Amino acid sequence: MVKLVEKMNQQEKEELLEAITRDLKEILSENRYLHSISTMEKAKELAKEYGQEEQIAMLTALAHDIAKEMTNEEYFIYAKENNIQLDEFDKLDNIALHGKIGAHIAFKKYGFTKEMQDAILYHTIGREKMTLLDKIIYLADKTEARREGEKAEKLRKIIQEEGINQAILWNIDYHTIPNMIQSQRLIHPNFIYTRNYILEEIKK
Ligand SMILES: [Fe+2]
Ligand SMILES: [Fe+2]
Repeated sequence: MVKLVEKMNQQEKEELLEAITRDLKEILSENRYLHSISTMEKAKELAKEYGQEEQIAMLTALAHDIAKEMTNEEYFIYAKENNIQLDEFDKLDNIALHGKIGAHIAFKKYGFTKEMQDAILYHTIGREKMTLLDKIIYLADKTEARREGEKAEKLRKIIQEEGINQAILWNIDYHTIPNMIQSQRLIHPNFIYTRNYILEEIKK
Protein backbone atom coordinates (compact mmCIF):
# COMPACT_ATOMS: atom_id res chain seq x y z
CA MET A 1 0.00 0.00 0.00
CA VAL A 2 1.22 3.46 -0.86
CA LYS A 3 1.25 5.95 1.98
CA LEU A 4 -1.20 8.79 1.39
CA VAL A 5 0.30 12.25 1.13
CA GLU A 6 -2.25 13.62 3.60
CA LYS A 7 -0.78 11.28 6.26
CA MET A 8 2.83 12.28 5.56
CA ASN A 9 4.97 14.56 7.67
CA GLN A 10 7.35 17.10 6.17
CA GLN A 11 10.27 14.69 6.08
CA GLU A 12 8.22 12.08 4.23
CA LYS A 13 7.06 14.67 1.72
CA GLU A 14 10.70 15.63 1.15
CA GLU A 15 11.52 11.98 0.52
CA LEU A 16 8.59 11.68 -1.88
CA LEU A 17 9.87 14.69 -3.83
CA GLU A 18 13.18 12.88 -4.21
CA ALA A 19 11.53 9.59 -5.20
CA ILE A 20 9.37 11.26 -7.87
CA THR A 21 12.39 13.12 -9.20
CA ARG A 22 14.23 9.80 -9.59
CA ASP A 23 11.23 8.21 -11.33
CA LEU A 24 10.77 11.12 -13.74
CA LYS A 25 14.40 10.90 -14.76
CA GLU A 26 13.68 7.34 -15.88
CA ILE A 27 10.27 7.93 -17.45
CA LEU A 28 10.63 11.27 -19.23
CA SER A 29 12.88 12.74 -21.89
CA GLU A 30 15.62 15.06 -20.67
CA ASN A 31 13.69 18.13 -21.78
CA ARG A 32 10.45 17.23 -20.09
CA TYR A 33 12.29 16.14 -16.98
CA LEU A 34 13.93 19.56 -16.76
CA HIS A 35 10.55 21.22 -17.44
CA SER A 36 9.08 19.25 -14.52
CA ILE A 37 11.83 20.33 -12.14
CA SER A 38 11.51 23.90 -13.27
CA THR A 39 7.71 23.83 -12.90
CA MET A 40 8.23 22.60 -9.34
CA GLU A 41 10.47 25.56 -8.59
CA LYS A 42 8.00 28.03 -10.07
CA ALA A 43 5.13 26.43 -8.15
CA LYS A 44 7.13 26.82 -4.94
CA GLU A 45 7.56 30.51 -5.65
CA LEU A 46 3.86 31.04 -6.41
CA ALA A 47 2.83 28.96 -3.40
CA LYS A 48 4.92 31.17 -1.13
CA GLU A 49 3.43 34.30 -2.64
CA TYR A 50 -0.19 33.18 -2.56
CA GLY A 51 -0.23 31.19 0.68
CA GLN A 52 -0.40 27.60 -0.51
CA GLU A 53 1.47 24.82 1.31
CA GLU A 54 4.78 24.75 -0.57
CA GLN A 55 5.49 21.02 -0.45
CA ILE A 56 2.04 20.20 -1.79
CA ALA A 57 2.48 22.64 -4.67
CA MET A 58 5.97 21.28 -5.36
CA LEU A 59 4.91 17.63 -5.38
CA THR A 60 1.96 18.36 -7.65
CA ALA A 61 3.99 20.47 -10.06
CA LEU A 62 6.77 17.93 -10.19
CA ALA A 63 4.38 15.16 -11.24
CA HIS A 64 2.06 17.20 -13.46
CA ASP A 65 3.41 15.82 -16.77
CA ILE A 66 4.15 12.30 -15.60
CA ALA A 67 1.89 10.86 -18.32
CA LYS A 68 2.79 13.34 -21.05
CA GLU A 69 4.98 11.01 -23.05
CA MET A 70 2.55 8.11 -23.24
CA THR A 71 0.95 7.45 -26.62
CA ASN A 72 -2.78 7.80 -27.29
CA GLU A 73 -3.03 4.05 -27.39
CA GLU A 74 -1.35 3.77 -24.01
CA TYR A 75 -3.81 6.34 -22.58
CA PHE A 76 -6.77 4.30 -23.73
CA ILE A 77 -5.33 1.05 -22.43
CA TYR A 78 -4.46 2.63 -19.07
CA ALA A 79 -7.92 4.15 -18.79
CA LYS A 80 -9.57 0.84 -19.51
CA GLU A 81 -7.42 -1.11 -17.09
CA ASN A 82 -7.97 1.41 -14.31
CA ASN A 83 -11.63 2.17 -14.89
CA ILE A 84 -10.99 5.80 -15.73
CA GLN A 85 -14.02 7.42 -17.29
CA LEU A 86 -13.15 9.02 -20.62
CA ASP A 87 -15.71 11.40 -22.08
CA GLU A 88 -16.74 12.05 -25.67
CA PHE A 89 -14.21 14.85 -25.96
CA ASP A 90 -11.33 12.56 -24.97
CA LYS A 91 -12.17 10.29 -27.86
CA LEU A 92 -11.97 13.18 -30.34
CA ASP A 93 -9.02 15.16 -28.96
CA ASN A 94 -6.30 14.17 -26.50
CA ILE A 95 -5.77 17.61 -24.94
CA ALA A 96 -7.07 16.55 -21.51
CA LEU A 97 -5.74 13.01 -21.50
CA HIS A 98 -2.25 13.35 -20.07
CA GLY A 99 -3.73 15.26 -17.13
CA LYS A 100 -6.44 12.71 -16.57
CA ILE A 101 -4.12 9.70 -16.72
CA GLY A 102 -1.33 11.55 -14.87
CA ALA A 103 -3.63 12.35 -11.96
CA HIS A 104 -4.48 8.68 -11.60
CA ILE A 105 -0.86 7.58 -11.78
CA ALA A 106 0.04 10.15 -9.10
CA PHE A 107 -2.63 8.70 -6.82
CA LYS A 108 -1.74 5.09 -7.44
CA LYS A 109 2.03 5.49 -7.27
CA TYR A 110 2.43 8.33 -4.78
CA GLY A 111 -0.80 8.60 -2.79
CA PHE A 112 -1.62 12.13 -3.97
CA THR A 113 -4.67 13.75 -2.36
CA LYS A 114 -7.84 14.51 -4.33
CA GLU A 115 -6.86 18.18 -4.40
CA MET A 116 -3.45 17.34 -5.91
CA GLN A 117 -4.94 14.90 -8.40
CA ASP A 118 -7.40 17.56 -9.54
CA ALA A 119 -4.66 20.11 -10.08
CA ILE A 120 -2.90 17.62 -12.38
CA LEU A 121 -6.15 16.64 -14.06
CA TYR A 122 -6.98 20.25 -14.91
CA HIS A 123 -3.53 21.73 -15.51
CA THR A 124 -4.13 22.06 -19.26
CA ILE A 125 -7.85 22.77 -19.53
CA GLY A 126 -8.69 24.44 -16.22
CA ARG A 127 -12.15 24.07 -14.72
CA GLU A 128 -14.96 26.00 -13.18
CA LYS A 129 -14.11 26.88 -9.57
CA MET A 130 -10.37 26.39 -9.98
CA THR A 131 -8.69 26.08 -6.59
CA LEU A 132 -5.59 28.03 -5.65
CA LEU A 133 -3.53 24.87 -6.20
CA ASP A 134 -5.11 24.41 -9.67
CA LYS A 135 -4.15 27.96 -10.58
CA ILE A 136 -0.60 27.61 -9.30
CA ILE A 137 0.04 24.43 -11.28
CA TYR A 138 -1.66 25.81 -14.40
CA LEU A 139 0.54 28.91 -14.37
CA ALA A 140 3.77 27.36 -13.08
CA ASP A 141 3.61 25.01 -16.07
CA LYS A 142 3.43 27.95 -18.47
CA THR A 143 5.82 30.37 -16.79
CA GLU A 144 8.60 28.18 -15.39
CA ALA A 145 12.06 29.62 -16.01
CA ARG A 146 12.84 27.40 -18.98
CA ARG A 147 9.82 28.67 -20.92
CA GLU A 148 10.95 31.26 -23.39
CA GLY A 149 9.11 33.48 -25.81
CA GLU A 150 6.52 36.20 -25.76
CA LYS A 151 3.74 34.21 -24.20
CA ALA A 152 5.73 33.14 -21.14
CA GLU A 153 7.15 36.63 -20.69
CA LYS A 154 3.74 38.25 -20.95
CA LEU A 155 2.29 35.79 -18.45
CA ARG A 156 5.09 36.43 -15.96
CA LYS A 157 4.51 40.15 -16.29
CA ILE A 158 0.74 39.85 -15.77
CA ILE A 159 1.24 37.62 -12.72
CA GLN A 160 3.54 40.24 -11.22
CA GLU A 161 1.46 43.27 -12.06
CA GLU A 162 -2.12 42.03 -12.00
CA GLY A 163 -2.11 38.65 -10.32
CA ILE A 164 -2.84 35.05 -11.21
CA ASN A 165 -6.49 35.41 -12.23
CA GLN A 166 -5.69 37.98 -14.89
CA ALA A 167 -2.86 35.80 -16.15
CA ILE A 168 -5.18 32.80 -16.58
CA LEU A 169 -7.76 34.95 -18.35
CA TRP A 170 -5.13 36.35 -20.71
CA ASN A 171 -3.80 32.91 -21.49
CA ILE A 172 -7.22 31.59 -22.45
CA ASP A 173 -8.29 34.68 -24.42
CA TYR A 174 -5.08 35.51 -26.21
CA HIS A 175 -3.34 32.21 -26.45
CA THR A 176 -5.42 29.07 -26.03
CA ILE A 177 -8.61 29.96 -27.86
CA PRO A 178 -6.90 31.77 -30.78
CA ASN A 179 -4.56 28.77 -31.13
CA MET A 180 -7.41 26.30 -31.20
CA ILE A 181 -9.16 28.38 -33.84
CA GLN A 182 -6.05 28.79 -35.95
CA SER A 183 -5.25 25.11 -35.88
CA GLN A 184 -8.92 24.19 -36.43
CA ARG A 185 -8.84 22.18 -33.25
CA LEU A 186 -11.84 21.56 -31.01
CA ILE A 187 -12.21 23.96 -28.10
CA HIS A 188 -12.47 22.03 -24.86
CA PRO A 189 -15.55 23.26 -22.95
CA ASN A 190 -13.45 23.67 -19.80
CA PHE A 191 -11.65 26.60 -21.41
CA ILE A 192 -14.98 28.41 -21.50
CA TYR A 193 -15.98 27.33 -17.98
CA THR A 194 -12.61 28.45 -16.67
CA ARG A 195 -12.81 31.76 -18.47
CA ASN A 196 -16.29 32.55 -17.18
CA TYR A 197 -15.37 31.58 -13.66
CA ILE A 198 -12.17 33.62 -13.65
CA LEU A 199 -14.05 36.64 -14.99
CA GLU A 200 -16.41 36.40 -12.02
CA GLU A 201 -13.49 36.02 -9.63
CA ILE A 202 -11.90 39.16 -11.04
CA LYS A 203 -15.11 41.14 -10.59
CA LYS A 204 -15.39 40.21 -6.90
FE1 LIG B 1 1.04 19.12 -19.32
FE1 LIG C 1 3.90 20.83 -18.41
